[in-house]
Amino acid sequence: MSTATAPEHADIVEAARALEARYGTPWSTPLPAWNETLDTLLAHRSVRNYADRPLPAGTLETLIAAAQSASTSSNLQTWSVVAVENPARKARLAELAGGQSHVREAPLFLVWLADLARLEAAGARSSASVEGLHYIETLFVGVIDAALAAQNAVVALESLGMSGVYIGGIRNQPEQVAAELGLPPRVLPVFGLCVGYPDETQPAQVKPRLPQAVVLHREQYDAPSQVAEIAQYDEVMGGFQTTQGLSAAGWTSRSLARWRSRESLHGRDRLRDALNALGFELR
Ligand SMILES: Cc1cc2nc3c(=O)[nH]c(=O)nc-3n(C[C@H](O)[C@H](O)[C@H](O)COP(=O)(O)O)c2cc1C
Repeated sequence: MSTATAPEHADIVEAARALEARYGTPWSTPLPAWNETLDTLLAHRSVRNYADRPLPAGTLETLIAAAQSASTSSNLQTWSVVAVENPARKARLAELAGGQSHVREAPLFLVWLADLARLEAAGARSSASVEGLHYIETLFVGVIDAALAAQNAVVALESLGMSGVYIGGIRNQPEQVAAELGLPPRVLPVFGLCVGYPDETQPAQVKPRLPQAVVLHREQYDAPSQVAEIAQYDEVMGGFQTTQGLSAAGWTSRSLARWRSRESLHGRDRLRDALNALGFELR
């Protein structure tokens, strides 16, 4: 596949197919370029059914090298990851994440951590003040670093023909997850990531996203023009849901159900208390 600035015909056809799957609508904007990286990114889909196939030796290390290649705030590298392959531990984490069977069934489960303990310990060794550690900003740094690292790993694993799905359910009971993984204070499990080869007998489809006009604002934020575009996306998602054998509910109603009540947060409504218990002061 060409990486030249003017895409070749085959690339244009491939790009149009990928973009139409991504939005569920025809794509008309001319493209300056197309390549295998964009193919990989545009083809992303969460996969929750895995083949009974082990990951090749060196996979974990390759994914972590990709993860560590992500930018990190001030090079602080305030993240860590716990790789879990032990079936009993995966089963316990699956339950802690709300009974998600794919956590148990994936050959590899990665728990991505905002890790403020490493630098705190370095501060203790050199008798340096770490007052800045206790501010919400610093936790943000760790969470952002962990997310950027994890997404690099996802792109890497998908480029290798593997698949995965993030597991936010790991925040349903953060203290229990921390105990299971032996985390020191001031280390937060941010999310999990199941990794495996996809079960080709149960293929996952690319899920359409909001039209660009909804998320892309030029010069200043524009709320009013989003309304009609969101209504159109509700139609697209209703159709997509139907092809998946699910109810034809659109994006708006499905998304609002996640915010309907405190209970719909599945325990994450008490995240501030959990953070305090894990040693984050959140000043
Ligand atoms: C931070 C984060 C947490 C997520 N948590 C879960 C989860 O606990 N369980 C799950 O099945 N999917 C989870 N997902 C997957 C999303 O539901 C999925 O990415 C979204 O529906 C879009 O679908 P796609 O990834 O196939 O494009 C999570 C995704 C992200 C980014």
